[in-house]
Amino acid sequence: MSTPLLPACRREWPTSHSPEDLFRFVVEHISGPLHGAPTSSPWVTSTSATLHRTIVKRPKLETLEIDGRILHNDFDVATSFARELRLLRTVTRHANIVEFYGHIDGVGLVIEAVDGVPIGSKIEGRPVPSDPTKLMWANQLIRAIHHIHSFEVSHGDISSGNIIIDNEDNVKLIDFGRSARAGEELFPTTHPFTAPDILQSSHNPSLSDTYALGVLLLCLERNEILEDMVAPEELSRMALPLFGHLVSRYTAKDGYARPKIDLAHLLPVSGEFICFIQLRCLNFAASVL
Ligand SMILES: Nc1ncnc2c1ncn2[C@@H]1O[C@H](COP(=O)(O)OP(=O)(O)OP(=O)(O)O)[C@@H](O)[C@H]1O
Ligand SMILES: [Mg+2]
Repeated sequence: MSTPLLPACRREWPTSHSPEDLFRFVVEHISGPLHGAPTSSPWVTSTSATLHRTIVKRPKLETLEIDGRILHNDFDVATSFARELRLLRTVTRHANIVEFYGHIDGVGLVIEAVDGVPIGSKIEGRPVPSDPTKLMWANQLIRAIHHIHSFEVSHGDISSGNIIIDNEDNVKLIDFGRSARAGEELFPTTHPFTAPDILQSSHNPSLSDTYALGVLLLCLERNEILEDMVAPEELSRMALPLFGHLVSRYTAKDGYARPKIDLAHLLPVSGEFICFIQLRCLNFAASVL
């Protein structure tokens, strides 16, 4: 008797050796309105057209041989593309979320090309970003994630590689292949941004985003990306005054103690900034003593 190539739960998914076939398969299962014409600044304006720079995100298939059995990643790639396309077609435009232009059947997703660098390179780069810049990025992230959650879907992989800082110093969220609605299977997220409770069946996916944002804010304030997972209690100890109050709440070990990301968490900027920092430093010193 021959051994099935894939576990039973995966056999209903067609296996494929062609990204074109796989992408066609994904698209067939998604419906929803497109967002229409691009709103991002054109790259070039000619006499009869505006030209926009885009990227095309295509499925990448891999084959793995384990103990003489050939395994394909079709299922994960198909699910991930279906999730990404669903989010891009569901969530309305937002200044801090990459713009979606549509899909080309058999080719891939067509997405605005952001001129910029992942936030990870800013966090670990020199000169280190100023506190007002960090506050502005934190607020843009809170707004963007809150916007996504308002459509009852999570981002699913908030991490230093999936946030681009564009050339105007604004945040753009990318990569929605691990997004999920409540009750759906979750993909593993990127360390060290993974919530400890992510594998529990009762887990609310949006609370993983809360945890991941807490870790990201800690990294942003400390100007370093943590190399590995750190226990939630330790994260609170490592917190600094600027984002410390959010880091402790966002990275609570128990998911139920974690708040959903809310616009009430937006931090004061510009004129209010100095008072805010002084107050935070006082509160922080009091909590440490
Ligand atoms: N719209 C975009 N504009 C500019 N760069 C982008 C864009 N989308 C993705 N990138 C770059 O490509 C990298 C990989 O893209 P993305 O995260 O969407 O793919 P992925 O397959 O999910 O990769 P990974 O598993 O590494 O997260 C990003 O980290 C970013 O540097
Ligand atoms: Mg990514």
